[in-house]
Amino acid sequence: MILEAKEIIVFFENAIAVNEISISVGETEVVGLFGPNSSGKSTILNVISGLILDIQKNEKRRGGQRITIFGKVYFAQRDITKLWPYKRARMGIVLCRERHSVFPESSVEENLKIAGFILKRNELSKRIAFVYSIFPRLKDLRNEKAGLLSGGEQQMLSISMALMPNPRLLLLDEPLFGLSPVFYSKLLDALSKIKDSGTSILIAEQFAMPVLPLIDRAYIIENGSLVFHGTKNELISNIDI
Ligand SMILES: Nc1ncnc2c1ncn2[C@@H]1O[C@H](COP(=O)(O)OP(=O)(O)OP(=O)(O)O)[C@@H](O)[C@H]1O
Ligand SMILES: [Mg+2]
Repeated sequence: MILEAKEIIVFFENAIAVNEISISVGETEVVGLFGPNSSGKSTILNVISGLILDIQKNEKRRGGQRITIFGKVYFAQRDITKLWPYKRARMGIVLCRERHSVFPESSVEENLKIAGFILKRNELSKRIAFVYSIFPRLKDLRNEKAGLLSGGEQQMLSISMALMPNPRLLLLDEPLFGLSPVFYSKLLDALSKIKDSGTSILIAEQFAMPVLPLIDRAYIIENGSLVFHGTKNELISNIDI
């Protein structure tokens, strides 16, 4: 397994948001994390990416709410529970947040360059070529201001930005959110190419159905608790999705 999150518990003050959930993702596996609104999907992704530590620190500094986290996160067998998100990003864990915004005044290609700032120049152009091969539409739009793209195109750009550093594990928080179903198949094709290129994916969505062709395994959570875990086939035969 490339990722193992073990017995994760998160409290916001006294309210439990994630109730002892364990999640794993294998090498080049695509895993679905499904659940309704407020079930804890984003919080789990924040625990895996480490963003929750930043949120916790900021809350503490401003005398805000107390956030309590239990459990362990392992990445490539290494305990990363205490690592800050930027260090996890350097190790290859990249989070693409829901409705994640692009830099609207910069062009598509400038956005990609910003996202790939840690890369050396020749790697940078290779990665840009790679994301254009996955999202050819972005190549056509490369000189357009990102703010002028459609919602679906901006979504492609924000996923492309997450791909720039060549992550080993891509965390996607509701990538289909707000997209019209005509975009779904384009995005799913792109995600399966990303998987084929060697990146593991953990994808959070409200509904399993649209991403079913893509995933290998799935977890379903409700109110912060795990209610199902199994392979795609087990999911299909198990529940009304
Ligand atoms: N920063 C925060 N402060 C207080 N409560 C929070 C915070 N973030 C999340 N929560 C609470 O934790 C629970 C889980 O929220 P989370 O955002 O993880 O759910 P979600 O499954 O991602 O929902 P959605 O589908 O709406 O994105 C909710 O009850 C939410 O109100
Ligand atoms: Mg969410």
